[in-house]
Amino acid sequence: MVKEMMNKPERNSSSSHLKQNHVLVKFVVSVVLVGVAFSLLYTGLLDVFRTTTTNEEGEISDKCDLFFGEWVPDPSGPFYTNESCHAITEDQNCMKNGRPDSGYLHWRWKPRGCEIQRFNAERFLQMMRNKSWGFIGDSIARNHVQSFLCILSQVETANEVYHDEAWRSYRWHFPSYNFTLSLIWSPFLLKSKIEGQDGMITTDIQLHLDKLDEKWTNEYQSFNYVTISGGQWYLKTATYHEKNKVTGCHNCADSNLTEMGINDVYPKAIKLVLNFISNSNHNAVVFFRTTTPSHYENGEWDTGGTCNRTVPYKEGEISLEYTLSVMRNIELEEFKNAAATLGSETEVKLKLLDITQHSLLRPDGHPGPYRQFHPFTKGNNATVTSDCLHWCLPGPIDSWNDLAMEVLMRDSGYSM
Ligand SMILES: *[C@@H]1O[C@H](CO)[C@@H](O)[C@H](O)[C@H]1NC(C)=O
Ligand SMILES: *[C@@H]1O[C@H](CO)[C@@H](O)[C@H](O)[C@H]1NC(C)=O
Ligand SMILES: *[C@@H]1O[C@H](CO)[C@@H](O)[C@H](O)[C@H]1NC(C)=O
Ligand SMILES: *[C@@H]1O[C@H](CO)[C@@H](O)[C@H](O)[C@H]1NC(C)=O
Ligand SMILES: *[C@@H]1O[C@H](CO)[C@@H](O)[C@H](O)[C@H]1NC(C)=O
Ligand SMILES: *[C@@H]1O[C@H](CO)[C@@H](O)[C@H](O)[C@H]1NC(C)=O
Repeated sequence: MVKEMMNKPERNSSSSHLKQNHVLVKFVVSVVLVGVAFSLLYTGLLDVFRTTTTNEEGEISDKCDLFFGEWVPDPSGPFYTNESCHAITEDQNCMKNGRPDSGYLHWRWKPRGCEIQRFNAERFLQMMRNKSWGFIGDSIARNHVQSFLCILSQVETANEVYHDEAWRSYRWHFPSYNFTLSLIWSPFLLKSKIEGQDGMITTDIQLHLDKLDEKWTNEYQSFNYVTISGGQWYLKTATYHEKNKVTGCHNCADSNLTEMGINDVYPKAIKLVLNFISNSNHNAVVFFRTTTPSHYENGEWDTGGTCNRTVPYKEGEISLEYTLSVMRNIELEEFKNAAATLGSETEVKLKLLDITQHSLLRPDGHPGPYRQFHPFTKGNNATVTSDCLHWCLPGPIDSWNDLAMEVLMRDSGYSM
């Protein structure tokens, strides 16, 4: 974690406006639902890539939109606990670390205009017989894969069959299903040299804007399914290279280098990644996950910022902080371009996993101070740093898997 990746969310005051529209919305949505049900019957596959952009209040979508909606109370709770799943990193094991409230575990994502099913681990593993799934990205990808392992652990505990020297990339195998799950740590997805990143401070990053990280491209062909994501690392101080020459820098002390911001860099990076996938001629289903929001309030991660809310926001109660909205817009734009270039004859199936808005509504889902074991028993409250970026396990990130599953099921014509 580095300074720039933690940003304070902004509030807006649209919630009362939202309420006025609420009754009307409910009525129209119920009418629309009937229409959606029929159109689904005929189109068969659901187009999950939206043409609408943000959550403008009162806007009525005429079809099911998995990625926009609200969190509704759900007494049933998570599929697993800190006791039943052994894959949870200490930093995200909020229960074990003494987080006192548990209300954050009792919400369910309700997309606008439709319902999603809860993850059916048994069905899923049957579908995954002899298959492999790779998660590629940063520590949020790790957070995500651990959620996945925990959900699947209801049916079978995976064996860890590989980890790299740095304990960042892993491979697991589900013996009864011969299903292989991999995590490839590649925070930029591009070729990079990262030094001095013990603890939370990254001192020197060299990033090649025209070269992909071979750590994932070399393994790409072995995956039947992929979840890939960029994100927060692009906000860090870094020196950029193209054609092996330094072309610029972000936040650098050396004023002779051209400052390059995320608008200069991130579109290039995502384009390169998606072009590789589109042109790979490899028969895979690829989920491109959008950026994950953080929820610091009253400061940043290093200036006493916290995230101690215990319930979700309602739609419209919070808007995405500026930098992250730039990032997500770049992701949506590049995804749209890449998806448009895929001909119908291609084997590559590119899917959007647009969790940004869904997760923005969950300020209550982060470890906060409970990234460490019983932080307050030491009587040392002032020095406790909060993690308002990663997600507690169990927690709202589990729902990312429900969403991915829903997309898969709808596209393959399965029902759970
Ligand atoms: C799970 O969390 C509870 C508190 O909710 C704690 O007492 C227990 O030790 C934890 N177990 C593990 C294995 O983390
Ligand atoms: C999985 O692979 C084994 C061995 O190659 C084969 O016998 C089996 O039919 C395969 N199962 C599926 C569902 O593809
Ligand atoms: C397991 O799946 C792989 C493909 O992912 C296949 O090559 C292998 O034969 C399978 N093994 C068994 C025992 O089914
Ligand atoms: C910037 O370039 C000038 C002229 O080449 C040089 O004198 C100066 O030391 C450079 N500054 C830094 C911070 O490298
Ligand atoms: C939440 O944190 C803020 C400071 O960031 C503090 O003022 C407030 O009292 C805290 N609320 C609870 C319930 O701990
Ligand atoms: C630290 O915070 C906890 C929870 O907010 C509180 O119960 C405890 O009294 C505080 N300890 C000190 C030394 O301020």
